Amino acid sequence: DFTGTSAEGAGNSHDERTGTGESMESLTNRQGHPVVDNQNVRTVGNRGPTTLENYNFIEKISHFDRERIPERVVHARGAGAHGYFETYGKAGDEPVSKYTRAKVFHDAGKQTPVFVRFSTVAGAKESPETARDPRGFAVKFYTEDGNWDLVGNNLKIFFIRDPIKFPDMIHAFKPDPVTNVQNPERMFDFVSQSPEAIQMITFLFSPWGIPANYRQMQGSGVNTYKWVNQEGEAVLVKYHWEPLKQGIRNLTQKEADEIQGKNTSHATQDLYEAIERGDYPEWELCVQIMSDDEHPELDFDPLDDTKLWPTDKFPFLPVGKMVLNKNPENYFAEVEQAAFGTGVLVDGMDFSDDKMLQGRTFSYSDTQRYRVGANYLQLPVNAPKKRVATNQRDGQSAYYVDHAPGRNPHVNYEPSVLDGLKESERPGKEHQPHYNDRLIREPIDRQNNYGQAGETYRNFEEWEREELISNLVSALSVSHPTIQEKMIEHFTQADEDYGKRVAEGLEKAKAEMENEEKEHTSSIESERAMYNAQRK
Ligand code: HEM
Repeated sequence: DFTGTSAEGAGNSHDERTGTGESMESLTNRQGHPVVDNQNVRTVGNRGPTTLENYNFIEKISHFDRERIPERVVHARGAGAHGYFETYGKAGDEPVSKYTRAKVFHDAGKQTPVFVRFSTVAGAKESPETARDPRGFAVKFYTEDGNWDLVGNNLKIFFIRDPIKFPDMIHAFKPDPVTNVQNPERMFDFVSQSPEAIQMITFLFSPWGIPANYRQMQGSGVNTYKWVNQEGEAVLVKYHWEPLKQGIRNLTQKEADEIQGKNTSHATQDLYEAIERGDYPEWELCVQIMSDDEHPELDFDPLDDTKLWPTDKFPFLPVGKMVLNKNPENYFAEVEQAAFGTGVLVDGMDFSDDKMLQGRTFSYSDTQRYRVGANYLQLPVNAPKKRVATNQRDGQSAYYVDHAPGRNPHVNYEPSVLDGLKESERPGKEHQPHYNDRLIREPIDRQNNYGQAGETYRNFEEWEREELISNLVSALSVSHPTIQEKMIEHFTQADEDYGKRVAEGLEKAKAEMENEEKEHTSSIESERAMYNAQRK
């Protein structure tokens, strides 16, 4: 139950008729008092003034005044659904236990409940879902080992590789702090100085930058994690969601504009309606696995999240599938208050040394303590479905004491000999990576900012390249010439044809703009001449 209506203490225990004129269906306030008049405030005479002891009104309006919580600082616009993950028990042809002891993947056919939230990134909470923007793809698995969150996007890579750049990047992508208008010049100003973003920009300005809806898109964990087996041995792993029967579909800018003219919530509506009519979307979860070392044979760093792992060397190994089959009953309780984070791993999983991953891991739970509140993990959508037994207590909106039944409730500390909670058994050998290096601030060695961007460009179909160039030209044409030049330089480094076509497009756009200006000026001049002639 995700709405919490059947949680202890929150149920409605009134009898069918209570003798006070109140029935099971009738309205009460939050103190359980029957509401007998919900149309009129209490006043002196029917024309007012109102009185301050009007508890029922004050309770109602003051709750209303607090209905909003801060929206997510990124990914504010989203839609969610419940479903399940079913494991194949294997990673490709190998038993999955060779790589990980995470129970969610063991025992072919086993189902684990999930909650998924899809989102756009830069727009505010009710912004149009046709935006050219990566799509968030966050999955919470309520596993028997506790919760596991896989917080990813649809484009498999990211703009930056160092978490210290994230607030700047988001500032550049969000609206201007003075005008409150989003401005591509600010975004390209940042990107032109961040060449690691070129591959992501290439995807984003192609049709892949506007998925048709949330069902018909891929997902990916993007950052690199580790899988740890019973012996404490680790491999590097990347996760990918591939849509099954519903396939992949993207929109051209023109198609997106047409939808946006009529509907700014088309993706939320599409997901909700598909699930309501029983057309449940499904994705296969695939992993790419790499041995846990630096891989000097590769021309990029495997922990660099601006890079794809080539599938010929690191094939997609299917490990299970996910089905979304239930809509939320309350958008706010389940979707708005849902809290995902990259730190939420289960036994058999670990963090890689990917520095973005560590930066993200601090940020998610930090923002959620502020956005949702200190006890956000007690909310039904965020709480694990297994037993929780901590010695943590209190804080705003503490909803229950998560102590183990039968244990001494006076002992909210550990260690203790007075029948308090004890530490768990270690479920397998610990993975203990060894570190010996200088503590420094430095970029990574194998940056290779352009190689994969060029490959991505060449792998597109010609119509996708045409869309890419036209979308880039229209966004860049409103940018400062220095930014345009820098971007052309980057595109040329990725692929000569790519740079050339953007440069030509910008030249043409400039000529057209100058022409339009000339026509505009000459029409003003002729109007003025006509006016002067009339006056004479
Ligand atoms: C949401 C931080 C990179 C995917 C968020 C939120 C923060 C954040 C603060 C809001 C969370 C909330 O209010 O509950 C960061 C930082 C990053 C980073 C600091 C880099 C250092 C990424 C990357 C991806 C990603 C690389 C994709 C793989 C998401 C998704 C959400 C999100 C999907 C929305 C989760 C939801 O639906 O509630 N991020 N992020 N982020 N981020 Fe990131």
